[in-house]
Amino acid sequence: MFEFNGKDLVKSSAALIDGERHPIANAANIASLIYNTYEEINWAGFYFLSAGELVLGPFSGKPACVRIKRGQGVCGVCVETGKSMIVDDVVNFPGHIACDSESRSELVVPIFNSGELIGVIDLDSPHPSRWTDTEKNEIELVADIFANGSDFDSPGFMY
Ligand code: SME
Repeated sequence: MFEFNGKDLVKSSAALIDGERHPIANAANIASLIYNTYEEINWAGFYFLSAGELVLGPFSGKPACVRIKRGQGVCGVCVETGKSMIVDDVVNFPGHIACDSESRSELVVPIFNSGELIGVIDLDSPHPSRWTDTEKNEIELVADIFANGSDFDSPGFMY
């Protein structure tokens, strides 16, 4: 049985989804794990590419925008570039999509399944410059653990 220690996010992610391969279950638990592990965070969640646009997946935090087009907002730009993005102050990011007016800095990491970009993990903080390479590197590993540990043709997963 998984025990949350609130410390090593990467190891905890692997332990948390061990034995379960449904993407919704795994994304939901990982979103909650990130939200409850990092300090100064007000949103953690998944968007999955569906018919060419991002659609909201499991998350922790306040309700969020449901659909984001490629190239729009930080998430949509991440899909276009295929690279992780740190935005120190969303006020200075043209086209930023404000789901929660409290959010000030953002980290978005692409999720690759067998080399194909299938979605992103998005983290928001109410503090400017909250996200560093430490979190970027951790969340990139978590994205890989999620993708490798999930079956995207699971019944009930529609993306
Ligand atoms: N701010 C994001 C939208 C998603 S929410 O932050 C949950 C963006 O600009 O893509």
